[in-house]
Amino acid sequence: MEQKRYGHFDDQHREYVITDPQTPWPWINYLGNEDFFSLISNTAGGYSFYKDAKFRRITRYRYNNVPMDNGGRYFYIKDGDTVWNPGWKPCKTPLDFYECRHGMSYTRIMGRKNGVEASVLFFVPLKKWAEVQKLTLKNESKEVKQLKLFSFEEWCLWNAATDMENFQRNFSTGEVEIEGSTIYHKTEYRERRNHYAFYHVNAPIQGFDTDRETFVGLYNEFADPQAVMEGKPRNSHAHGWSPIASHYIEVTLQPGESKDFVFLLGYIENEQDEKFEAPQVINKKKAHALIAELDTTEKVDKAFAALCEYWDALLNIYKVKTGNDKLDRMVNIWNQYQCMVTFNFSRSASFFESGVGRGMGFRDSNQDLVGFVHQIPPRARQRIIDIASTQFPDGGCYHQYQPLTKRGNNDIGGGFNDDPCWLIFGTVAYIKETGDFSILDEMVPFDNQPGTEVTLFEHLKISMDHVIKNLGPHMLPLIGRADWNDCLNLNCFSWDPNESFQTTENVSEGTKAESLMIAGLFVVTGKDYVALCKKIGKADEAARMQQAVDAMIEAVKKHGWDGEWYLRAYDFYGRKIGSNECEEAKIFIESQGWCTMAEIGAEDGMVAKSLDSCKKYLECEHGMVLNNPAFTKYIYEYGEISSYPEGYKENAGIFCHNNPWVIIGECIAGRGNDAWSHYAKILPSYVEEKYQTLHKVEPYVNCQMVAGKDAFKPGEGKNSWLTGTAAWMWYTVSEFILGIKPDYDGIRIDPCLPETASDYTVCRKFREAEYEITIHPNGAQKGVRSITLDGQPVNGTVIPYSAGKHVVEVTM
Ligand code: BGC
Repeated sequence: MEQKRYGHFDDQHREYVITDPQTPWPWINYLGNEDFFSLISNTAGGYSFYKDAKFRRITRYRYNNVPMDNGGRYFYIKDGDTVWNPGWKPCKTPLDFYECRHGMSYTRIMGRKNGVEASVLFFVPLKKWAEVQKLTLKNESKEVKQLKLFSFEEWCLWNAATDMENFQRNFSTGEVEIEGSTIYHKTEYRERRNHYAFYHVNAPIQGFDTDRETFVGLYNEFADPQAVMEGKPRNSHAHGWSPIASHYIEVTLQPGESKDFVFLLGYIENEQDEKFEAPQVINKKKAHALIAELDTTEKVDKAFAALCEYWDALLNIYKVKTGNDKLDRMVNIWNQYQCMVTFNFSRSASFFESGVGRGMGFRDSNQDLVGFVHQIPPRARQRIIDIASTQFPDGGCYHQYQPLTKRGNNDIGGGFNDDPCWLIFGTVAYIKETGDFSILDEMVPFDNQPGTEVTLFEHLKISMDHVIKNLGPHMLPLIGRADWNDCLNLNCFSWDPNESFQTTENVSEGTKAESLMIAGLFVVTGKDYVALCKKIGKADEAARMQQAVDAMIEAVKKHGWDGEWYLRAYDFYGRKIGSNECEEAKIFIESQGWCTMAEIGAEDGMVAKSLDSCKKYLECEHGMVLNNPAFTKYIYEYGEISSYPEGYKENAGIFCHNNPWVIIGECIAGRGNDAWSHYAKILPSYVEEKYQTLHKVEPYVNCQMVAGKDAFKPGEGKNSWLTGTAAWMWYTVSEFILGIKPDYDGIRIDPCLPETASDYTVCRKFREAEYEITIHPNGAQKGVRSITLDGQPVNGTVIPYSAGKHVVEVTM
């Protein structure tokens, strides 16, 4: 196995330090926390947008670029005849030193060449609609340095999809204004847009460029822009074609001297009647104000300190000390960080998601919430309301919605029958964390239509009912377009490569396609729903749903068991999927995960058998594959799943998202050794240590998929960052392995550990309380023997909630 390393963790600074710019794939980070966001690769590639990567793209990204992260915020330094960039790209001039530090919502890239050090700190200050790029140039040589500095950003046309499509119009609409050291981008501002962007530097400039062809030259590239190579800006003024923003600054540095430059990429919105200060001239008042807030090193340093404090506070809510660095750094830093990022972006913008395709997923966002709710509960609350507002009156829902408009995405529509259940999953997690039952009384519309509002609780009720009203011949849930596995399309029969599996056909007439995954999900969330109803005094509703849950359990036992594992589904014609009788794909992971979490048939040994079968048939060196054996041919009745080559994606890839389901099943069954060994296999810090070249994608976060045992390159990762894996890894380790579980009346303590686990401490802020919980496992995998709270014995496993600081001791 290849052992080359490109970087390492720096836990003290909560950074991943990349020491070689030529990583096997762009290793990226995210900037911004609420409205203004940027993606940034380790060589400063990437783009920025306001709220919505499709509708408010600020800087340009070219899809499927070569290399992938080409285009970004670039600083060109011309020192004599040498032109270089602090992040190595795009010139790729060999550097004397290179380092990229990805931290919590910031990235610092540093390069050294011929006695000059250039260090750039990139971040989006809290509550600001702008990306700061603080560039520090330092002369470490013994001579005076005369440098020519060029900045570079390329504007996008707000709607990123149009930007890539409609050149016949776009090449004529581009408009800019230049005022002092600020370049304004105002394309389409003259008509219906009330927003513009700007790129500013807090120093006088000696020139600029705003027209790309003039700056780069028709036959040159980002690696050798003509203006830079010749050391002469053209002072071009873009009219149409491709507007850019480039400042030119002449910098003299005495030996030992250093200078800061604060570059600011900002976004502004104006009221309709305040758009212009003169005919055709944009009103720059707000831009001036924003610039004034961040125009000195001191102001920027202060904003950066505030961002660091913000992360201190967020990461202080759940902190573990186990003595195992690899575990601690994932739990305390990176897993929680990735949860915030997936909460913000759902599956919209990454180096695997274009930002123009998917918005926020209904099921995805509910799951992401569970990884995030302890950090900023009010944002999770708002998210639940936003999601529920895209539901239809019959309980079905839009599969996705756009973050800017919060409207359901018509391109994909609804019909994914697992979607409604996830609303219960998200809401229950929120209430358990906060104790805020008032959310259930919020009035929430259907499909965002004013006048249709009912309480959120009513939304939960119709979500459950949607499953019950859509049962198939075995009294198991009908699958619809697909369940969690978007690619198991049992009602879509397609031989036409121009059709999308997920949106073309959904033959409902006569279908017998049922899902065991939804059955398990229904039992798990149904039990939660019943407990919630009891909690709020709705005994009748609790009893009604308990009956439905019991019936579902019976249906699974009767029609969903294959002897050694749970079936996966029934197809359109009522034939088994995921059965020993099948030629391929005899066993699937999703139903094993959900039915073991639901403990269906535990008393008859089904759970233990199912978990054993996962080990026997699904587990491999890199994790558990989704199905086994992999499909080797296209099965018309199954849809997209068998369209993938063996070992990739939903066809026997290690779809990391669902590994935690089985791990939780193991935890509930009390099999701590097995739970841990599955968990460690997909824990990024373990992969980081083992191999970086093979894994390819960022070693500090989980990716959606690692190629499975049947793949051409088992162990190779894809689709990093935006994956439900983040939330599920967090939920698994924080609540089921380390065993600290928020509950309505307090914190339930129920760890499930490998026998080798030593004592550990979790500091958990919970509502108005702060608990320091020390667990003494004593070699046990499961089972709490005794708990003391501030020295007093506790009955049972729930520490009753009370505000203030508490010390808890747990003996297993
Ligand atoms: C989607 C999820 C889906 C999963 C499995 C992901 O790309 O975002 O919603 O559950 O794939 O198909």
